[in-house]
Amino acid sequence: MNLEKYGPWALIVGGSEGIGAAFARKLAAKKFNVVLIARKTQPLAELASELRTTGVEVRTLSADFSKPDVLESVRAVTGDIEIGCLIYVAGANIRGNFVDLAPEVHRSIIAVNVPAPVEFARHYGAAMKSRGRGGIILAGSSSNFLGSPTPAWPVSR
Ligand SMILES: NC(=O)c1ccc[n+]([C@@H]2O[C@H](COP(=O)([O-])OP(=O)(O)OC[C@H]3O[C@@H](n4cnc5c(N)ncnc54)[C@H](OP(=O)(O)O)[C@@H]3O)[C@@H](O)[C@H]2O)c1
Repeated sequence: MNLEKYGPWALIVGGSEGIGAAFARKLAAKKFNVVLIARKTQPLAELASELRTTGVEVRTLSADFSKPDVLESVRAVTGDIEIGCLIYVAGANIRGNFVDLAPEVHRSIIAVNVPAPVEFARHYGAAMKSRGRGGIILAGSSSNFLGSPTPAWPVSR
């Protein structure tokens, strides 16, 4: 990924583990500064320490994207920097029988997968549009297209 076009900062939602951590390592290797967001503080702190050894700047924020108003808390840690790349890979990988899951579980899955990425793409996308550069990656799951037991997520096309 091109630092001139998509830097100097990347914001990675779900950036502590899995695919998000892999993006963070690749981007830091290319000298992107990164903002990492997830709920658990320890994986965030461990990855931030690792990435700082490459010489890049790293900010972390513990935030739950199933909660309302999360954009405000993220804006507070990104307001003074230029986010040229937004990567949204926070997943709600909950399995279970659809009708047996509690309503609040369904609501949290929807919150992480639908309104939050829309809100973030709009907010950071608007700044990218005005700068005339930047990029957004939103991860989803092909499970939405397949009929199989237990990934009975209430989010589908
Ligand atoms: N891995 C695959 O093979 C694969 C294939 C197709 C699609 N996907 C999709 O890609 C996305 C990421 O997958 P992954 O395998 O990297 O998952 P993962 O290893 O479970 O990582 C998910 C990341 O998102 C964070 N996260 C989860 N829920 C969150 C919430 N409510 N608020 C804030 N952060 C949250 C996690 O940290 P905390 O738990 O600390 O919050 C973690 O950093 C998912 O949407 C998944 O469905 C993955």
